[in-house]
Amino acid sequence: MSKYRIRPEDGAGGTLLLISPEHALLGEPEQTKLVPAVDENTDVLLEYTAARMLQRTLADVGAGRRITAVSGYRPHREQVKIWEDTMRKEGETFTRTYVAKPGHSEHESGLAVDLAEQREEIDFIRPEFPRSGICKKFRDMAPYRGFVERYLSGKEKVTGIGAEPWHFRYVGYPHSVIMTRRSLVLEEYLQFLKEETSPEHPYIYRSGNVRIDICYLPLDQWIDEELEWPDNLPAMISGTNEGGLVWTRWRERYA
Ligand code: DAL
Ligand code: ZN
Repeated sequence: MSKYRIRPEDGAGGTLLLISPEHALLGEPEQTKLVPAVDENTDVLLEYTAARMLQRTLADVGAGRRITAVSGYRPHREQVKIWEDTMRKEGETFTRTYVAKPGHSEHESGLAVDLAEQREEIDFIRPEFPRSGICKKFRDMAPYRGFVERYLSGKEKVTGIGAEPWHFRYVGYPHSVIMTRRSLVLEEYLQFLKEETSPEHPYIYRSGNVRIDICYLPLDQWIDEELEWPDNLPAMISGTNEGGLVWTRWRERYA
């Protein structure tokens, strides 16, 4: 069996971290884990797995150069500059709608990317990423590669951010598929797991002959506890940045 003993710092790492107006990011990603988002010629960086899966999604849909990454990882000082510049140019309401407070931006984690359809003029804060053509193809494939459209229209009161059809967040598969099918934003998905799941009663995701069990663990009750799973099956643990962990386990294939 594989074993893992839960540590307090596990709450602050992983792909399911909630980074929002109410939940500040606690640490910056390790610089070595940041790589070019799309190709070697860009200075837009992303966390390693997010970059790999973005590249795979773009290749899956044959995007070529029709989709471009406008903004990925932002060091804290860059988020401060964007916030201050936008405040000056566009005022407070616009800024609070479309720019996360420094310290509270998913871009500071390296897990978020703003995408644009390639055009001569691209707006840095609100790029065009339509729901048609190649961008639609990308949208349809993205959840299967771990990405969600993070700031959905109609969920502004939940996320505290305006609708941003260009901002994609890497949360990892199969969370991305579940969230997309149920139209849940990350705040709602974590709340659902928190209220409805436990190791004994996980949420069960099935696709083909694969079964994946997902459950929420309150961090304060699980520090120093050991998780166990069979050696030959993958498992992932992510902090939520709001006091919990999500444990995702692939189970035996079933007939
Ligand atoms: N535009 C998003 C909310 C950010 O600044 O992180
Ligand atoms: Zn963004």
